Parts: sequence; structure tokens; C-alpha cells
Amino acid sequence: MADRTRVGVLISGRGSNMMALATAAREPDCPYEIVLVASDKPDAAGLDWARSHDLPTFALSPRGLGKPAYEAAIDSALRDAGVEVVALAGYMRLLSDTFVAAWRDRIVNIHPSLLPKYKGLDTHARAIAANDTVGGCSVHLVTEELDGGAVLGQAEVPIRPGDDADSLANRVLVAEHALYPKTLAAFVTR
Ligand code: GRF
Repeated sequence: MADRTRVGVLISGRGSNMMALATAAREPDCPYEIVLVASDKPDAAGLDWARSHDLPTFALSPRGLGKPAYEAAIDSALRDAGVEVVALAGYMRLLSDTFVAAWRDRIVNIHPSLLPKYKGLDTHARAIAANDTVGGCSVHLVTEELDGGAVLGQAEVPIRPGDDADSLANRVLVAEHALYPKTLAAFVTR
């Protein structure tokens, strides 16, 4: 499979979006491959899944290192793996302006709201509190502004009477797992 875009995925937790990206990448016509799964949390559940699926992993806690040294190490791991595009998937750390500039227009993220609505945290609770009838998720380019880069793809999900943040999050997550691989594939072939 020649000329597939080499993607590095950054996770902090269970990594279900990373799993969706990696599962899609097993299809012969997928235009990207996952060449590294990296985490700031050495005990992230997603790392176990990646290892058991023979994906290269890198784990480093920033604790005691400081942000610049930590990010330099992540940057080196990505470059050593030949990564061309970085996909954030539940990565719970803000990237520095230096890191964003080094990977300008080559970092994407999935966010659980219909951006530009509800940047940041607690998106589902905020959508319910606002009496929205539709929620969803967005894949966007990462810039220096939190959740502020160009939107590459979105999926809408109904908000039902009686929904709480957890029930809505579960419904949106199903949509995330379909949206992210599709949007990343379109992005790398743009
Ligand atoms: C997802 O809801 C994603 O949109 C948000 O964090 C969550 C990560 O879930 N950025 P997972 O680790 O991919 O399962």
C-alpha cells in the first residue's frame, strides 16, 4: 500500500476514536495509516489496545519534565515515526503555540459539539442546558485558538427529551467514530 499518509494519534484515555481511526486504516483503500499512538498518560487504556493491535506506541508523562521538554519529546517521537499528520483523539492537554506552529495545518482534532458552539469542556451539559434539540461533533484543524480552527467535517445528533450529558455523550460518540475516519481520509487526500 504505497503513499498512504502517515498519521500519529495523540490520546489521553480510553482511545475509542483512535480505535475507530485504526480500524478504518486496516481497509486496503484507506488513504492513511496509523504509525504511532502516543499518550501523555502512560496508563491510558487506549495504549493497551494499540499494543495488542501491533501499533507502535509512545508514552510520556509531562510530570516533572515541564511542558517544553515534554512537547519536544512528543515532537521527536512523531518525527522519528515519520508522522505527516497528527490526529488528536481525546488528548486532554493544550498544545503550545510552538508545537502548533511546528505542525501548522497538519493537526486535526475531534470535538464533541457542533463548532463554533460549545468550545472547551462540558459540551453536552451545555447543549442540554441551552435546550438545544440537536448536538453533534466536529473535526477541525488545530490552531492556537482552543477549538477554533477550520471545521473539516461535522455530524449532527438529535438531543432527546430526558437526555442527560452521559446519554447524549454516548449517542454523539457513535457519530464521532463514523465522522473521524471519514473526515481524516478526506483531509489527507484534499
Ligand atoms: C471524545 O468525546 C472526543 O470528542 C473528545 O474526547 C472524547 C475522547 O474519547 N475530544 P475517546 O478517548 O476517543 O474514547
